[in-house]
Amino acid sequence: MNKLRSVAIITQDEQMLRLIDRINKIADSDSSVLLIGETGVGKEVFADYIHHLSNRGPNPFVKIGLAALPPELLESELFGFEKGSFTNADHQKKGMFELAHTGSILLDDIDDTPLKTQVKLLRVLETNEVRHIGGTQAIPVDVRLICASKVEIKDMVEHKLFRQDLYYRINIVQIRIPPLRERKEDIPLLIGHFLKRFGKEKKLGISKTALDHLMGYHWPGNVRELRNVIQRASLFAENDIKVSDLPDDYLQIDPIERLMKACHSCFTNSGMPFHSVMQCLETRLLKEALEHSKGNQSEAARRLGMKLSTFRDKIKKADDCQPETPMT
Ligand SMILES: Nc1ncnc2c1ncn2[C@@H]1O[C@H](COP(=O)(O)OP(=O)(O)OP(=O)(O)O)[C@@H](O)[C@H]1O
Ligand SMILES: [Mg+2]
Repeated sequence: MNKLRSVAIITQDEQMLRLIDRINKIADSDSSVLLIGETGVGKEVFADYIHHLSNRGPNPFVKIGLAALPPELLESELFGFEKGSFTNADHQKKGMFELAHTGSILLDDIDDTPLKTQVKLLRVLETNEVRHIGGTQAIPVDVRLICASKVEIKDMVEHKLFRQDLYYRINIVQIRIPPLRERKEDIPLLIGHFLKRFGKEKKLGISKTALDHLMGYHWPGNVRELRNVIQRASLFAENDIKVSDLPDDYLQIDPIERLMKACHSCFTNSGMPFHSVMQCLETRLLKEALEHSKGNQSEAARRLGMKLSTFRDKIKKADDCQPETPMT
């Protein structure tokens, strides 16, 4: 664990440790850092770590989410405004850059910056000065820039959705935080960390089987999703978190087992003719393939190794069975 005052990056993954090592080397350098990673991987945790590790640590750290704000409001938040510069501007207001003076600023979801604002942002970064909206005075700002993005900004530059000059300016040190499914050995470590936080009074642990299920899950919401699962399970669990404390979505059920479960009533209904049982199974298989292919019939047919025309024929004829458990 890399612990810094209250900022802890919990990891034992080689790639993550290398990233932390890089950060430790550049923290004091004032260079801009671009954090890229899926939702919930820990971009903000890394940003906190960088700021607090740097010699700007005791100074302000201002965070602003660029996705959450409409363009006009965004600019007044970033750069501040003068009294009377627009309707409702009945007082002067400092912008985030001024508030972050001598410290750091986190521009979260930088990829969502409108092109018009990108030009103004670049000017501030190049000149180290801001001008309030409706103002003329240049206000010097000394700010360390940290940006975070869920998407590849490089691709946006290619499609002219992000200015190349701004990209060069923010992308001095790039840190790509790997998704949780690519560093599974962090899962038990993070679970231990969250259990200490959420299951402290109950002295909770986790059963081996429950852990196995969580290790097999693909974690699209990454560490945030894991934290939420453990927080929720901790409310109900008594000694250890067991499989029964986990929501069904997290259980790694064998596909055959899932199919049998879904068609349980067909199998146990002894009066059901063989043909109908087979029809029911076939329907489930076709529908599952369709669901996994997001409704694309050609893809579903390919998955099943079937001609598209056969797939279409079969799905048209498919007699629906009533599954007792949803297929996914
Ligand atoms: N390595 C880690 N150690 C401890 N806690 C972590 C770690 N990574 C993430 N977390 C926790 O997971 C949650 C999500 O992390 P964070 O907000 O930093 O993600 P993010 O990448 O900024 O997500 P988003 O793109 O949705 O804003 C937070 O509660 C954070 O404390
Ligand atoms: Mg974030």
